[in-house]
Amino acid sequence: MARIIGGYFTSHVPGIGLAIAKGLKQDAYWRPFFDGLVPVQNWLNEKKPDVAIVFYNDHGLNFFLDTMPLFAVGAADVYHNDDEGWGLPVQQSFQGHPKLSWHIIECLVEDEFDVATCQKMKVDHAVVVPFQLAYPDAASWPVKIIPIAINTVQHPLPSAKRCLALGRAVRKALETWGGDEKIVVMGTGGLSHQLEGERAGFINKDYDLFCLDNLGPHPEALTQHSPVEIVELSGSQGVEILNWIAARGALGLANPLQKHRNYHIPISNTAAATLLLEPAA
Ligand code: DHB
Ligand code: FE
Repeated sequence: MARIIGGYFTSHVPGIGLAIAKGLKQDAYWRPFFDGLVPVQNWLNEKKPDVAIVFYNDHGLNFFLDTMPLFAVGAADVYHNDDEGWGLPVQQSFQGHPKLSWHIIECLVEDEFDVATCQKMKVDHAVVVPFQLAYPDAASWPVKIIPIAINTVQHPLPSAKRCLALGRAVRKALETWGGDEKIVVMGTGGLSHQLEGERAGFINKDYDLFCLDNLGPHPEALTQHSPVEIVELSGSQGVEILNWIAARGALGLANPLQKHRNYHIPISNTAAATLLLEPAA
């Protein structure tokens, strides 16, 4: 059986990619965030996962407002990156694991998750930036990926409860998979931020700390709020926490071990956070 060895959660601000491209990682503004990734890099280096299941949201590269699935699972051989408008240098493509993707899709549909299936899928900064942070000097990415896009963009959004259940169903699917891959799950985006409108720049540290404190031990606490309530609490893009909640679901019911956590305000418009959890033994 494949094994989930940990969960890596991080913000995916595109400015991080620009800072990397400009060599600014040790700049006073960026350093408190980049330094918070070193324990994640070391952990990945030690554990060497084979596959990453990435819960993220697309920002208009693969899906636009005219066609927006609530949950979309990648089932491609390869996932190319492109710049959806932030001026980010295009990064190397990711290898997929289509057989495992289709196994997960079959199990999810059997579990009544009516997901979209994507045999072609481009991945934007919400996938690429967390990998640049995790594997800073990689010429090619050392893991295969299975991207799972959650609609955090166009309302109605899926509920936090449903996202947690999706992650749990992905975990259940892995229990019937014949391979012996080591798997890391990833949740990208958040924490609180709002990019547009009257509340542009909105950050809510209290709510962010509530999420960081409870995601591991009490993920249900994060499902008490509807998506619109999460937008009120955390900003119109802070609702990307749904990706973290889904990834947490894949770590199982028991309380995971918190290996590392970092929180820094602000990076661009975002309360930037990194969290590393290991499932209970
Ligand atoms: C920013 C944050 C995001 O999550 C994103 O997708 C785009 C921009 C920001 O803070 O600049
Ligand atoms: Fe985003």
